Amino acid sequence: MSLLEVRELTVAYPVAVGLSAFFSRRYLVAVDHVSFSLPEGGTLALVGESGCGKSSTGLAVLGLLEHVEGEVLFRGRDVLRMREKERREFRRHAQIVFQDPYESLNPKMRVRTIVGEPLAIHRRRGETGRLKEALELAGLSPPEYFLDKYPHELSGGERQRVAIAAAVVLQPKLLILDEPVSNLDVSIKAGIMNLFRDLQDQLGLSYLFITHDLADAFFLADEVAVMYLGVAVEKGETDEVLSHPLHPYTEALLSVAPGSGREKLILAGDVPDPLHPPPGCRFHPRCPRARGRCSEEVPPEVEAAPGHRVRCFYVSRGERDPHLEEPKPIH
Ligand SMILES: Nc1ncnc2c1ncn2[C@@H]1O[C@H](COP(=O)(O)OP(=O)(O)O)[C@@H](O)[C@H]1O
Ligand SMILES: [Mg+2]
Repeated sequence: MSLLEVRELTVAYPVAVGLSAFFSRRYLVAVDHVSFSLPEGGTLALVGESGCGKSSTGLAVLGLLEHVEGEVLFRGRDVLRMREKERREFRRHAQIVFQDPYESLNPKMRVRTIVGEPLAIHRRRGETGRLKEALELAGLSPPEYFLDKYPHELSGGERQRVAIAAAVVLQPKLLILDEPVSNLDVSIKAGIMNLFRDLQDQLGLSYLFITHDLADAFFLADEVAVMYLGVAVEKGETDEVLSHPLHPYTEALLSVAPGSGREKLILAGDVPDPLHPPPGCRFHPRCPRARGRCSEEVPPEVEAAPGHRVRCFYVSRGERDPHLEEPKPIH
């Protein structure tokens, strides 16, 4: 059974628009009917450019946002509909690691307090053994050396390891990794990525791995979901999706990834304003393959190959439509 099953997740933010005298509220839909599942011990990467709704998805999965619809089933129980006590128990099993260890760690707290905080919240105080174990798991050894340090006394990589120690100290099942290596130097990044792999092997953790970097997704994830403007446009096994991308957006992302060896597909225009998403397929204004229908109808999700799902009119079973014209640059 899946550890996590997300069904038709939709996240909106109320935003104020217009002059204050004519103040009105609108809703920005950051995540639009996104579905995926994450098996025990597996990793799913949410991939896409900044602003496509990855962090909102992660926060909604943890039950931290308002204006959320759909279902987030953790071991079959809906996080969005849990009562307080059950939600607290869920939060013991589901932790998050953020991008920026400089911001996410309280500069006034010593490592022992930072890593001990989750234990205190869940009334498991005074377990120095657990603290040391967590530091050791995160590769901070010997733990005694780190316990009384403040974040500013540590390197960037060590700080992220402290954040990881705090995330695993309660022996969770699920970690949401929200761009956990995006702020780190390349040399440090590799060590942290390997740590995630090791921790998964040792602890049987499941990861929802949020990244804008396809190479990182390829390294860590069994499956990927590619997001564009709040919509999961392509999903499937990482190898399959990255070697046979079917959605034009995935193709474009891959083509600009360093070392892809593909011809670069530079997308026209910018990501549209999410408050005014384009009608039809949200990608159509930038899509080199767009046709009339794409601006009018929302493409349904089709299973192009077993487990490989795509939202594009011009992908049918197995392959892209062979009668399709080759992409034309749009001006
Ligand atoms: N607290 C918020 N209030 C209003 N809009 C928000 C808020 N957080 C995120 N957004 C908007 O939601 C969209 C998705 O954001 P986010 O989930 O942070 O994307 P990503 O993590 O992929 O960069 C963006 O358009 C962003 O501006
Ligand atoms: Mg984000």
